[in-house]
Amino acid sequence: MAEILSQLDIPSDPNVLVGTHTADDAGVYRLSENLALVQTVDFFTAMVDDPYDFGRVAAANALSDVYAMGARPVTALNIIGFPEKKLPMDILLAILRGGLDKATEAGVSIVGGHTIKDDEPKYGLAVTGLVDPARLVTNSGARPGDRVFLTKPLGSGIMTTAIKQDLARPSDVEEVTALMAALNRPAAEVMTRVGVHAATDVTGFGLLGHLHEMLEASGAAARIRAPAVPVLAGVWDFARKGAVPGGSKSNLDYFGGCCEFDDSLDEIRRIVLADAQTSGGLLISVPPERADALRAGMEAAGVRAAEIGEVVEGTCGRIRVDA
Ligand code: CO
Ligand code: CO
Repeated sequence: MAEILSQLDIPSDPNVLVGTHTADDAGVYRLSENLALVQTVDFFTAMVDDPYDFGRVAAANALSDVYAMGARPVTALNIIGFPEKKLPMDILLAILRGGLDKATEAGVSIVGGHTIKDDEPKYGLAVTGLVDPARLVTNSGARPGDRVFLTKPLGSGIMTTAIKQDLARPSDVEEVTALMAALNRPAAEVMTRVGVHAATDVTGFGLLGHLHEMLEASGAAARIRAPAVPVLAGVWDFARKGAVPGGSKSNLDYFGGCCEFDDSLDEIRRIVLADAQTSGGLLISVPPERADALRAGMEAAGVRAAEIGEVVEGTCGRIRVDA
């Protein structure tokens, strides 16, 4: 995507604070000295069977890019693809109800949308948020010495693949659905209150891919401790049984080249770190003197945040993974 965009001659505009040049989560446009628009769009095919849950997850995922930038989402537009001749309209209604409930929970007004006929249901939101440019959090501010936090456990890609392969138990379905539908709002509120150097959300490129992007944008390297990275229970077993999405494999192929893994980390440990996430947690780079405040704030907000490593000096974008 970045490669295609780089072939376009996009005119520069001083009010575009974050545009297509950095692989950031959302675009940011300055309206006035202390107010900027944050805009993002995300939609995809269903990763869970229940249409209401699909709606909730897709909405939480789309809102996440606004939260990752320390901004407050205010309005959203529905984006829908639906096979109206093949599926009952009740399904479409359930998807939209899921999205609406998530938006309402986020304090976001859905103000419109657009539907097209499609062979397979697709759903998501185009979200508009607001932020004070002085409080904007991008993916480019990580500095050596920063502590790295992750606010949701990994494994949603492997888990949803296990569900499709009928390997998962109902309790697994429940757990991963709740995780994917959880808003990153409380984590973002703590992050902006504490003050952090950089953040992004973990989605399709997995932990390693999104960490790599943050490090490249910041001109730094990192060391993470594999055992400190939270992972959904059950994921190891499913990964060993081969329930690994193609995207996670290609993430490891691609981003694995930027990583130096401890020899004792087998293929399964590595693939989980690269697992493509749907509506994953925030990945936050916080100066060391604020790490305790961030940890305490997350705990008080009920967010399962884990400190997984630190930013270090080194070749830009390199990740050392310790066992
Ligand atoms: Co993102
Ligand atoms: Co995105």
